[in-house]
Amino acid sequence: MSYQAEIQKAIRDFPDFPVGSQRILQLINEPEVDYEELEKAMRYDPGLTANVLRLVNSAQFGVKRTIESLHRAFVLLGEKRIFELVMTHVSSKLFDVEMRGYQLQPQDFLRHSLWVAVGAEQFAKTLDLQTSETLFTAGLLHDVGKLVMDPFLVQERETMQAVAADVSEDSFEQREKAVFGINHNEAGAMLFEHWNLPPEIAAAIRYHHTPEDAPDHQQLVKVVHIADMQAYVESVGTGIEGVHYHLSQQAFEDLDLAEETVEYVASQTVDQMKEIMQLLETQ
Ligand SMILES: [Fe+2]
Ligand SMILES: [Fe+2]
Repeated sequence: MSYQAEIQKAIRDFPDFPVGSQRILQLINEPEVDYEELEKAMRYDPGLTANVLRLVNSAQFGVKRTIESLHRAFVLLGEKRIFELVMTHVSSKLFDVEMRGYQLQPQDFLRHSLWVAVGAEQFAKTLDLQTSETLFTAGLLHDVGKLVMDPFLVQERETMQAVAADVSEDSFEQREKAVFGINHNEAGAMLFEHWNLPPEIAAAIRYHHTPEDAPDHQQLVKVVHIADMQAYVESVGTGIEGVHYHLSQQAFEDLDLAEETVEYVASQTVDQMKEIMQLLETQ
């Protein structure tokens, strides 16, 4: 079987999005959210309740008073934030793994993913953009394909080392594609379709390295790309991609980014990241 076929099989066999969370996400997506049902569904996962209650009191998610019950959190925060909180919790479990193929230590991948989520939202806020409600989650999940691809990179360790050392102009995802016939952005988008989650997030996953190619949701994808680039500049979960990260000049220009904006967003993101990582129950 070719690598491409093997990877496609691995995506089909990949576990469903954590089951309890799927029920929660379903409830949140209802036009009229039933908070009682939602609370019931969340209580099955004590870690989730604990994380949500910790995070709702943070600068990223919080309201300016202490919240001690889930019910109050729901009422005060609304569906969008609850959705983000649940996704953050799920990712804190799913992403806190070592990825030997991508040369990421435990917590590196979680840190990188959260950085892009928080950073994307900070960029949108600072630039006063009317982007989608799913921007945070799109940032959080942009590299999810690495979860599927990593074992294959481990199998091809020597090839990947040579690929990483090669000084040609190719971007990392072009190099992945040359070795495996598929790259982490494509694998991630396929995984996402397999999980049946919103299509604009799949667009951000598929095009986060080449935002100008996205057929729709371009602004969302560009913001995710810029936040991702910033994570590389700040060396947050860089791993094997290293210097082969290509900045989309067009995204930079289209968003009309000034140097001060980039610096401001970086400092905001550093602060929020510190707080979130401290609050998350990642052990
Ligand atoms: Fe990526
Ligand atoms: Fe990334």
